[in-house]
Amino acid sequence: MSSLRVLISSDQIRSRIREIGVEIAHDYPEGPVYLIAILKGAFIFLADLARAMPTPSRIEFIGISSYGKGKTSSGEVKLTKDLDVSIEGHDVVVVEDIVDSGVTLTYLLKVLAQRRPKSVRVAALLDKPDRRMRPVRVDYVGFSIPDEFVVGYGLDYAEDYRNLPDICVLSDAN
Ligand code: IMP
Ligand code: MG
Repeated sequence: MSSLRVLISSDQIRSRIREIGVEIAHDYPEGPVYLIAILKGAFIFLADLARAMPTPSRIEFIGISSYGKGKTSSGEVKLTKDLDVSIEGHDVVVVEDIVDSGVTLTYLLKVLAQRRPKSVRVAALLDKPDRRMRPVRVDYVGFSIPDEFVVGYGLDYAEDYRNLPDICVLSDAN
């Protein structure tokens, strides 16, 4: 039996994203910033973040998988969908749902650096600092959370729960 407990409510998420949007807009007043969301988990965060920024942005997606169907990373990262455009000479903000071990971001930042962007920063809605195995700099963090498995607001467990409006802790007997 699985149970869900609200950790961060949709209202809390909304107001924090408004702050981050203003912060990013302030850092790139001219724009356009290339917001690159990591599929699939970041798609809802991206949609709200882009609308919270009063400055121009471009929306792009990249696919990376590291998790398989379990709750812990397989440690094996692969690119499942590449960008459709060149980011050479552009300011990039990688939009991620959650930074856990840091393996995914470390890999992605290496891939993106080869594309010669003007700059790259990272915006993550959630950060689980206790679980970090690779040091990565997260420039914009929504919420730091304890080492618990969370779902909702884009985050899944085996593809379920992405549509929950709140971020919830998923516990089960397994
Ligand atoms: P990392 O490579 O270990 O940093 O893992 C990052 C990815 O793992 C995230 O983009 C999520 O897709 C997934 N992930 C990590 N922790 C959780 C969680 O608590 N719930 C759902 N997905 C998670
Ligand atoms: Mg993800």
